[in-house]
Amino acid sequence: MCGIVGYVGFRKATDVLLDGLRRLEYRGYDSAGVAVRTPEGLRVVKRSGKLSALEEALKGVELSGNLGIGHTRWATHGAPTDPNAHPHATEDGRITLIHNGIFENYLELKEALKARGHGFRSETDSEVLAHLVEEKYRGDLFLAVREALEEVRGAYAVAVIHAGHEEIVAARTVSPLVIGLGEGENFLASDVPALLPYTRRVIFLHDGDVARITREGVEITDLQGRPVAREAVEVDWTLEAAEKGGFPHYMLKEIHEQPWVLESTLGGRLLEEEGDVALDLALDPKEVERVQVIACGTASYAGLYGKYLLEALARIPTEWDVASEYRYRDPLVDGKTLALAISQSGETIDTLEALREARRKGARTLGVVNAKGSSLTREVEEVLYIHAGPEIGVASTKAYLAMLAAMALLAVRFGRARGVLDREASRGLIREMRKLPRLVEEVLEKRPLIAHVAEKYHQAQDFLFLGRHVQTPTAYEGALKLKEISYIHAEAYPAGEMKHGPIALIDEHLPVVVLATQGPLYEKTLSNIQEVRARGGKVIAIATEGDEEIRKLAQEVIYVPQVHPLLAPIVSVVPLQLLAYEIAVLLGRDVDQPRNLAKSVTVE
Ligand code: AGP
Repeated sequence: MCGIVGYVGFRKATDVLLDGLRRLEYRGYDSAGVAVRTPEGLRVVKRSGKLSALEEALKGVELSGNLGIGHTRWATHGAPTDPNAHPHATEDGRITLIHNGIFENYLELKEALKARGHGFRSETDSEVLAHLVEEKYRGDLFLAVREALEEVRGAYAVAVIHAGHEEIVAARTVSPLVIGLGEGENFLASDVPALLPYTRRVIFLHDGDVARITREGVEITDLQGRPVAREAVEVDWTLEAAEKGGFPHYMLKEIHEQPWVLESTLGGRLLEEEGDVALDLALDPKEVERVQVIACGTASYAGLYGKYLLEALARIPTEWDVASEYRYRDPLVDGKTLALAISQSGETIDTLEALREARRKGARTLGVVNAKGSSLTREVEEVLYIHAGPEIGVASTKAYLAMLAAMALLAVRFGRARGVLDREASRGLIREMRKLPRLVEEVLEKRPLIAHVAEKYHQAQDFLFLGRHVQTPTAYEGALKLKEISYIHAEAYPAGEMKHGPIALIDEHLPVVVLATQGPLYEKTLSNIQEVRARGGKVIAIATEGDEEIRKLAQEVIYVPQVHPLLAPIVSVVPLQLLAYEIAVLLGRDVDQPRNLAKSVTVE
């Protein structure tokens, strides 16, 4: 899950490359490097550590040249060291490349190349391709890269340059790659945010595409050299949207963007008069007999929420799996099964492969995606876009909320179409959904109180999160956010499950966050709080405004506005996002780039 950038044009390549890497650092940040074509040949500068280490190393190094490639790494093969950092060059330094992905057959290729006299400087799989290109090179870099790629197996986005050519040759299979079109210059990147300062006209490369990029233009073929036509599209994300906007962290900015994100995802789709929603999908919910939710991490918790709502409002059997399990459990699928794939990036390999498995077995497919032009959008029959804008913080927040809103929209549409949800009940829900942006704004105003709770409990070694029914995924998500950015061990359980084991964890040192908003299971949840209290646990309750009862039971109460119980997760997760954020800041963590993580997981 590395970040790739490339530039050919009239600007100082190093400036464009570093700017691009800064905007893609959320994709991987354990080492970075650039290669620039200078009058003296290709110059490579690379360092382990954050991008700042590379910027430091480049101080005082004159790298004049208008063509170059850059890389920020999330290590898979070989620890994050200077030699393992990208770019990787051939021994004579005339060919250099960067790679995002994994070459699964690199060991056998490396042994064969060594036997043919090639010397290697790194432990990476990526370096192998540089030597393969060198062997194939007979004056045409474009051809040499295509021929070399025929020998590798696995996932890749690569960019290759040669000392003798004023061009970048790039290719992708599985890992994302986007070309940015300019006037007298062209750009390359793993993701759109790196291109936004220069252009919004882009070409999303598809699997198997190979491109020759010069300042004059772009030529795209398949691996066999047959020309391929790819449409240039105008992206609607603004540069501002991909910047911090005065907030100390992208995550905090994105948490505060959630009222607008809900407005964008729900707005224009709520038909209160008809008591229905407009999703502009050709799929007929009446033709679907079963839904299978496919997703990973935070997206999978949105999927679990979707399961509860689809079964409650549309009475359609819905299975929920994490994608990496779904694809290997030989799932029961037929033509009346809908595979519902959820992903912010649209590039998560486990989700993509699970979807392909469902499709192979004959399922109908629907994607709930944020990133336009991403691989998932090309692999599903239809896409229900969430409109969260670019999400830069590695810990997903606004995309999660938009996914929850999308699940509510889908469940209402399915319920209406299948004649299970009547117009009046639906109108009631829709009126409640229309309030959500304002209600989330109200919750954001509680940040000072949440910061106070964080202050009291940020030294805790463990946390437990409990929820029931639709609030169970909220508990999972709350625990995941805290784990991701504070590195505190946090567990989450359906509250009814606590007595069957987790209750053993409880003592006076354990904060227990309980989702206790008003709803059919409120009383049951209060009993769980009693059980925690009886063992000395410190209860932090997320409760509904006006609930005085709970004050008597919980050490801390964070109130959220009253809303339909099925929609309560949308207002209840926001305090958990802020709690995790405040605790991580108090512990001095790198909130936007937490250790060991990366924004989209493009390798298995
Ligand atoms: C969430 O904060 C994490 N970044 C991670 O769990 C993420 O949700 C997961 O990798 C799925 O990503 P996707 O939505 O881009 O497919």
